[in-house]
Amino acid sequence: MSIVIQEKCKTITLHTKNTSYQMKIGNLDYLLHLYYGPRIPDKDVSYQIQQYDRGFSGNPYESRNERTFSLDAQPQEFSTQQQGDFRTPSIEVVNSDGSYSFHGKAAGYQVFDGKYQLETLPCVFANKEDHVQSLAITLVDEVSKVELSLLYSVFEEADVITRAVKVKNAGTAPMHLKKIMSLCMDFLNGAGFDLISLPGRYGQERQVERQPMTHHIHSIGSIRGSSSHQQNPFVILCDRQATEDFGKCYGFSLMYSGNFLAEAELDQYDQLRLVMGINPKQFFYELKPGEVFECPEVVMAFSKHGLTGLSHLYHDFYRTNLCHSKFVMDVQRPVLINSWEAAFMDFDDVKLVEIAKAAKKMGVDLLVMDDGWFGKRDDDNSGLGDWYVNENKIKCGLHKLVEQINDLGMKFGIWFEPEMVSEDSDLYRAHPDWAMQIPGRHAVRSRNQMALDMSRKEVQDYLIKRINAVLDDANIYYVKWDINRSLADIWSNALPAEKQGEVYHRYILGLYRVMDEIILTHPDILFEGCSGGGGRYDAAMLHYYPQYWVSDNNHPIDRLKLHYGTSFVYPTCTMGAHISDSGKLVPLKTKAVVAMCGTFGYELDATHLSEEEQALCKEQSDLFRKYYPITFFGDFYRLTNPFAPGNMTAWQHVTKDKSKSLLSVVVTNLTCNGPQEYIRAKGLEEDAFYRMNGGEELYSGAVLMNAGIPIPREVPDYTAFQYYLEKVKEV
Ligand code: GLA
Repeated sequence: MSIVIQEKCKTITLHTKNTSYQMKIGNLDYLLHLYYGPRIPDKDVSYQIQQYDRGFSGNPYESRNERTFSLDAQPQEFSTQQQGDFRTPSIEVVNSDGSYSFHGKAAGYQVFDGKYQLETLPCVFANKEDHVQSLAITLVDEVSKVELSLLYSVFEEADVITRAVKVKNAGTAPMHLKKIMSLCMDFLNGAGFDLISLPGRYGQERQVERQPMTHHIHSIGSIRGSSSHQQNPFVILCDRQATEDFGKCYGFSLMYSGNFLAEAELDQYDQLRLVMGINPKQFFYELKPGEVFECPEVVMAFSKHGLTGLSHLYHDFYRTNLCHSKFVMDVQRPVLINSWEAAFMDFDDVKLVEIAKAAKKMGVDLLVMDDGWFGKRDDDNSGLGDWYVNENKIKCGLHKLVEQINDLGMKFGIWFEPEMVSEDSDLYRAHPDWAMQIPGRHAVRSRNQMALDMSRKEVQDYLIKRINAVLDDANIYYVKWDINRSLADIWSNALPAEKQGEVYHRYILGLYRVMDEIILTHPDILFEGCSGGGGRYDAAMLHYYPQYWVSDNNHPIDRLKLHYGTSFVYPTCTMGAHISDSGKLVPLKTKAVVAMCGTFGYELDATHLSEEEQALCKEQSDLFRKYYPITFFGDFYRLTNPFAPGNMTAWQHVTKDKSKSLLSVVVTNLTCNGPQEYIRAKGLEEDAFYRMNGGEELYSGAVLMNAGIPIPREVPDYTAFQYYLEKVKEV
């Protein structure tokens, strides 16, 4: 049983294989949070909460002469407002009488088999063998009749618990939500925690920052209308001493692609609270009587085996429980070549076929026709929205072009940027009101394009119809789905003034509907997400796309950091990574080693490569295929930290049965006459012996992990090494 309820002491304990999570319906029916961490018995641990008379921390009305009970000093499962808790709330409502009060008391719970569902938002799913149990706890405000349903699903084997919240207006008058978070996590003793986040910028996404918790609110979020390049909806709270291999680490991954917020607050009593959910900025959501609002899901995991242990939990879970596409586990991803850095928008059908012919010699399986094939799109000032083939460029028509590529024995892929519109487009001329723009004001342009109002059904319907028509017209194997600006001018012409605070979220709901109707209706197409690189690389997007373009920055040395940061939560099989012309001083072999820490492909003009270069690429494409079962399904280890001083970056993939491993090293900087350096492997079988790169010598797993591999010194900068380790059966 993964959910244990003890009626007498009113505790609810959720157990996964190695973790436990405990709540209690406590004093005055407030729902208290008691514990999350390594597995414990079911027994009530509420003795942990010590109560004192705290100055300036108010006491609830019902506790009258009991001055030691204050919500300001209680660990809560869902923090409320105006109840004497002055820490960050999880919910802020404006009631129909204008008051800002939510007084939620536990009013019941229900345990059921299987995963809870959200109607409007993407969620992880349970596979048959997962034996998931779920829980819904209801909190009710007796005055306003607002009801919260706190939802939990327990994935016992995976060591994962998911949470979500539904809010219902069960009253008789409309009310508004100003803030509604998906998660509240209170720790009684939070002083020794560090917070790790993945901040970045365009071209440098998901860099890693670690900071000690101090007495203020650390907030991490986005108000760009998407989860963004600048922050990622994933945070870690860990012991200050936690390393890759040791220490307690908690992960929180939000399944949402719009504005988000994570607030971590260390309070006056060293209690730590983390809340996470939709960003309350410019969020004001009306709930009419009977209406329900759904909050996105948070996927939580805990490991006492350091950051690597935590990453492994996410990698395993996101490989099997996030995306239904057959390309995740069952169909090997193709090696692709993308036209963008080869030709930008300057191509025609003949050029594309030439690239494909050259790429064929490089072991490429798929040609992707990137931006520039549709409408009037010769530069980035026009054409977005007109998803019709430009027959001045693709003179033979899409159908014939795809046929020519298929005749070469290759597959064909295409690029879209569905959510955007150019003012110079037929779509905009026909429907200027479909673009987001605040009436009477000039629009903020970015890349000279505007965003479509995705909250409108007719916009969604247009995109579904038009894009599906293109996909159904030709033999399309792959789609790259891009979005190339942050949202501003948040306004919907279809909504009244008082509902404009709903537009950010309605945009995302509309987007998910469009994705459902295009992506889920084309199970045989491989979809890759993109937002000017990795600007919307989040778990909700990975529910739809098995892979996501990590960054527009293809420089292999920058990519070391990009892959490192991304790997804290998202597995290698999701990381779009290509070899390009970027990094002139970096050998092609090194570029290939780096791209093998991802989906592998090319982003260059294959016709410009010499025969030797094409042959070298062919070798690398074949190696990618050879190592695919290791890199896509194995455990990933960060062996060095590219943000720390050092001369090389190393990482490793190991198959689950530890029989095969690929250890990759890139020398970024070698000091003159410096010490010999060693890279220690991880995750191998101590007692086993391994053959390295097919050689005669056998290496003990224990020695490789404890003494390490000496990395050759006298090599040029940016040399890369790959150590392919294969366990030998008997010595
Ligand atoms: C974005 C993507 C690129 C490319 C261009 C096309 O920047 O990240 O890979 O597709 O758009 O305009």
